[in-house]
Order: sequence, then C-alpha cells, then structure tokens
Amino acid sequence: MTHEFDGEKYRLASAHQKEWGARLIGELRLAGTERILDLGCGDGALTAQLAALVPQGAVTGIDASAGMIAAARSHQAANLSFKVADINDGQSFGSGFDVIFSNAALHWVADHQTLLGNALRALNGGGAVAFSFAGEGNCANFIRVVKAAMQLPQFARFFSGFAWPWYMPDLAAYRQLVRGFPFAESSVRGENADRYFTDQETMIKWIDQPSLVPFMQCLPGEFKETFRQCVIARMIEASLQPDGRCFETFRRINVIARK
Ligand SMILES: C[S@@+](CC[C@H](N)C(=O)[O-])C[C@H]1O[C@@H](n2cnc3c(N)ncnc32)[C@H](O)[C@@H]1O
Repeated sequence: MTHEFDGEKYRLASAHQKEWGARLIGELRLAGTERILDLGCGDGALTAQLAALVPQGAVTGIDASAGMIAAARSHQAANLSFKVADINDGQSFGSGFDVIFSNAALHWVADHQTLLGNALRALNGGGAVAFSFAGEGNCANFIRVVKAAMQLPQFARFFSGFAWPWYMPDLAAYRQLVRGFPFAESSVRGENADRYFTDQETMIKWIDQPSLVPFMQCLPGEFKETFRQCVIARMIEASLQPDGRCFETFRRINVIARK
C-alpha cells in the first residue's frame, strides 16, 4: 500500500524529519566515491545532501509518490537521480550500492523481513544500511486521536477494511529481526526524539503532510474536511502546552548494519 503526497507542502512541514536525517548522514563515514540508494526519499532534500558528499559517487532516490518525486527533481546534480518506485518491490533496489539510506520512511513499510533481505542483496560487500524510522510509542497523541476519530459514527463506515499504514516495532523485536540476517556488524538503537512544535500552525502542517494522508484517501469529498477538523481539534486538546507549543512523542529506531 503506497500513498500520494504533496511534495511542496511536505517540504515546508518536515523540519524535524530533516534534523533526524542530517544526524543520520553525520554518522556515515563517506569517502566521496560511494553509490548510495535513498529509500523513500520524499522531497529529495536529504538525497541532495548525500550527493554533495559523494562528488565521485552517485545517489539515487526512490519514492512511491509521484508528488514527492516531482518536488525532489527540483534538486539537480550530475550524480543525483530520482525515480518513482515502491520499496516493497525488490526490483526497485537494483544492486551495487555502498550505502542504502532511509530516513523517516520505513515505518510506512510493513514487511521488514523482505526489506532487509532486499537491502542486503543490493549492497556491495562492506557496504551498509543506515535507517532511521519510527518505533513503538511514536506519535502517541496522533495515533490515539486518529483511532478515536475513525470510530465516530459519522466516519466509521469509511474505514471498514482500512489497512493501518504504519509498522512501528518494539526495539528489542527489531534487534532480533536484524540479528537474523548475515550482516558482519550491526547497531540498532532507540532514540527518544519527543518534540514541541513551536505553535499550533506548525503542528497542523505536520498533521496535513504526511500524517493524515492515508486517512483522507478513504473519505469522500464532503467528509474530508470535517474529519480533518475533528482530528486537529482533538490534537490541539491533547497536545497544547500552557506556553502555546504542542507536544508529540517521536520515538526512532536507528539502524546501521554492515554487510
Ligand atoms: C515522511 S516522508 C520522508 C521523506 C524523506 N526521506 C525525509 O526524510 O524527508 C516518507 C516517504 O516515504 C515514502 N514511502 C512510503 N512508503 C513507500 C514505499 N512503499 N515505497 C516508496 N516510498 C515510500 C512516502 O511516499 C514519503 O515520501
């Protein structure tokens, strides 16, 4: 299951994803010649940062959303390319990569057994995966609020058969999963990245892109805005602090594993 996003709106609403991504890039010790694959590259900002760090290498960003790839293509460099492709499709990976990078995307992918197998196959010997994605406890307010809104009588019928969009595993279970693959070395770390949005508007931008997207797709036109307003009102009630900021939990799983 993949979703269509507005890459330009995401660009304006993704300051915290970009902070985590920059930290993950900081952990890579790049020589400048690597071939890098960025899974779920979104608006391509981090993919472009990677390309600037490997002037003798090459970076490919893939994303299932045409809207995201359209925004990503505003970044141009001789060693940078983007394509619309689904991470769930093993053929999207290609082969011969030194780094397979992914930030804030892999909690949208349910089957990490297949994902890790595909990544391992696409890596050169000595190459590494560098993933940061959401783990258990992530977005506790939003998940509680959106689940309650989906059950309201006026909306419930639109969500029968709805496929929950996220896989946010427990850290210990994910460590166990990674240990089942023949990586030469691996580190799987949890990170508490809880955050205060500076104000309600900033939180609402994040609610709109990307968080609400899978839910909006289920609703007919006239119900989209009422559902959105219901989630926003309940999120403000759940997260607003006395100083006007809004709190949300962000729990990450950071994986570096070398072949
Ligand atoms: C929150 S954005 C992160 C974008 C970027 N990596 C960043 O850190 O700003 C998550 C991205 O994952 C992409 N994505 C989710 N599931 C995917 C799939 N199965 N195949 C490819 N891309 C996917 C979405 O389209 C979206 O662009």
